[in-house]
Amino acid sequence: MTDKELLSIAIKEMEKSYSPYSNCKVGAALLCKNGRVFTGANIENAAFSPTICAERVAIFKAVNEGERDFLKIAVVGEKDGNVNGIFAPCGVCRQVLREFCDDNFQIVLGESENDFKVVTLKDLLPYSFSPENVR
Ligand code: THU
Repeated sequence: MTDKELLSIAIKEMEKSYSPYSNCKVGAALLCKNGRVFTGANIENAAFSPTICAERVAIFKAVNEGERDFLKIAVVGEKDGNVNGIFAPCGVCRQVLREFCDDNFQIVLGESENDFKVVTLKDLLPYSFSPENVR
């Protein structure tokens, strides 16, 4: 699957966002090494802190389905219906990714299907605290 194809799945996933408080719709598509794709959209809450990001929805769905080997994730977000720059994963999502992915894991940061950049987890989370630290 190409980066562009994965990103187009993430873009479609934004429709499933439940975000009445921020009006930010975020979509994620996580590609497993075996080819399966898990999607996620952000789900907000009136108490705010229970809100969960699109990336973690996708990761937790995958892990709950028995998958732990991931190749890359595409992420895209919009505010008030407009994509206005990239939505890079928040710090909590970066740490959750680090639980299952190594430094070379790729993150496709999209603005549109034809406008994206690819970075690594090491770019986003250098000097990370990882499972190796506590095993
Ligand atoms: N959000 C995500 O889903 N992923 C990110 O990487 C950043 C933020 C969501 C959480 C919240 O629903 C909204 O965007 C505004 O913070």
